[in-house]
Amino acid sequence: MRRFVAVAGVAALSLALSACGSSGEKASGDAKGKEDASQVDIVSWWSAGSEKEGLAALQKVFEKQHPDTKFANKAVSGGAGSQAKQKLQADLAAHNPPDTYQAHAGAELSADIAAGYLEDISSLYDQFKLRDAFPKDLIDRLTVDGKIYSIPSNIHRANVVWVSAAALQKAHIDPSKAPANIDAWLADMKKLQDAGVKYPLAVGADWTQLELLETVLIADMGADIYNQLMDGKGDWNGADVKKAFEHYSKLMEFANPALLNEDWEPAMKGIINNDGTQAYTVMGDWTPPAFDQAGKTLGKDYFAWPTPGTEGVFDFLADSFTLPKGAKHPGGTKAWLDTISSKEGQIAFNTVKGSIPARADLSDEEKGKFSQYQQTAMKDFQENAIVSSIAHGAALPMSVTEDMKKALGKYNSKSLDVAGLQKAFADAASKK
Ligand code: GAL
Repeated sequence: MRRFVAVAGVAALSLALSACGSSGEKASGDAKGKEDASQVDIVSWWSAGSEKEGLAALQKVFEKQHPDTKFANKAVSGGAGSQAKQKLQADLAAHNPPDTYQAHAGAELSADIAAGYLEDISSLYDQFKLRDAFPKDLIDRLTVDGKIYSIPSNIHRANVVWVSAAALQKAHIDPSKAPANIDAWLADMKKLQDAGVKYPLAVGADWTQLELLETVLIADMGADIYNQLMDGKGDWNGADVKKAFEHYSKLMEFANPALLNEDWEPAMKGIINNDGTQAYTVMGDWTPPAFDQAGKTLGKDYFAWPTPGTEGVFDFLADSFTLPKGAKHPGGTKAWLDTISSKEGQIAFNTVKGSIPARADLSDEEKGKFSQYQQTAMKDFQENAIVSSIAHGAALPMSVTEDMKKALGKYNSKSLDVAGLQKAFADAASKK
């Protein structure tokens, strides 16, 4: 496997590691008290396949740490929360919240915070001793007007291309080497088509299209300008954005139109099975457990490298959990937040899920429990330039992201051309 080479000195964030901070402290006293801790209703979208296994690993630690609290799994299927988020918005608006729900750290929660749906849980950061355990920059991204409304369980990387060795062999392309940029990648896709791989690029439902597009934006603009664009200081109508949209449009010519409504795992089945029918997909690093389940080996059956042109950049997202106002079992929620933030919980969950712990205070021995890929990801997270994922809620408010997904749907059903798509994104971003 070609490693994610860490580029020294390009770190946009100084993710200082802290040796202090304890783990696994019980929430018992406070969490129980007068607050109902008899159970916790947990809404996530980890309902199937490899994702379900990650949640099950966390449940095991939870039941050990909090044996008196019933774990009530209310997962809603649909990768990236495609179904869960709709149901949640309706339940929150109707003042019928679950005890906790999955969300992405960053801009995604801004509307829920503004609507007053969430409790400020800053005090739990002190109670669970998390202020030194998480990287300071992650805490900064979670903080809104001095308050924190969720606790992260993990960190995923979105700008990863997963590569089928069997498909690339058909066109005599070395699967371990990333093309230098998007143009070189497009040239390889043409070679693959000429060698009989009809649709080299696997792309599924709208959020997977958005994830592909965001990584092309990063490739064509670089981390700093991409970050400015996300912060509202860039120009969505600009020439560099145009170049990325045109690249995206060319890439989509290599994707099978029949898969554009599929979830991530079925959409990339040909890569997971290494059956030679699909060559590449851009997907977050929740994929390795799916390869494991299919009995496939990194560096032999499949390879992974950053989206061409994004070497040295870590397109970041973090899953986090909340305490909604009016939750029926706030004591149960606190117990859950204790487990997901504890060292034991983060190690058990992330070793199965494919992500890296959000905690930055793991010992070398604890890091040794993770795969080689994950150890590289941990290093990259410290050393790379960090950017926020659009498709996974870190960069932009949910309503903006939803409008962008709708525009991609229109583009792929041919009711928008590429210039219209770029304009639709500019219009969506202007509502931020
Ligand atoms: C992301 C989430 C990941 C993974 C993925 C696919 O939004 O952060 O943990 O679940 O969706 O469903």
